[in-house]
Amino acid sequence: MTNDQIAAIDISVLPNGEGLPDGKGSGREGAKVYATHCAACHGDQGEGRGDFVALVGGRGTLSSNQPVLTVGSYWPTATTVFDYIRRAMPYNTPGVLTTNEVYAVTAWILEKNQIVAPGTVLDRHALLKVSMPNEEGFVPDPRPDLAR
Ligand code: HEC
Repeated sequence: MTNDQIAAIDISVLPNGEGLPDGKGSGREGAKVYATHCAACHGDQGEGRGDFVALVGGRGTLSSNQPVLTVGSYWPTATTVFDYIRRAMPYNTPGVLTTNEVYAVTAWILEKNQIVAPGTVLDRHALLKVSMPNEEGFVPDPRPDLAR
């Protein structure tokens, strides 16, 4: 494999932001990306559609009898949202979004969940500063052989 070939698939972003690429996007730009590439499955406002999961809502439901798990209610880090969308979405055509489009649609989803203020522009620095509602809800694995 050449270095270029390795770079093309070396897209992992760690929770601490390591691996985040240059680029940026706002929720306003993300709304267009979302309407074009995501809404058909996840619903116009991220509410989910049929078997396709919701990306918005569910906040405050985790300790109820009917927890609704979404990016907004459940996911621990915004960096992981970026990583997941970049590698796996759109489900039927992953890889079609530019880096800026991934930042933008991530901003849109976080805006809809009222996690970032409208107008927020996300880049590698801003994304790292986003505080997720359930970020304290995960317990680190205590096994010593898994120590970081
Ligand atoms: C063809 C339908 C389809 C399209 C289009 C699509 N998705 Fe998805 N999405 C899915 C499916 C199916 C899953 C669940 C995948 C799994 O669990 O393995 C999913 C899961 C997700 C998740 C994880 C949700 C969670 O809480 O587990 C996110 C975030 C997401 N999609 C974002 C997007 C974004 C952003 C776009 C547009 C760029 C998009 N999706 C386009 C079908 C789609």
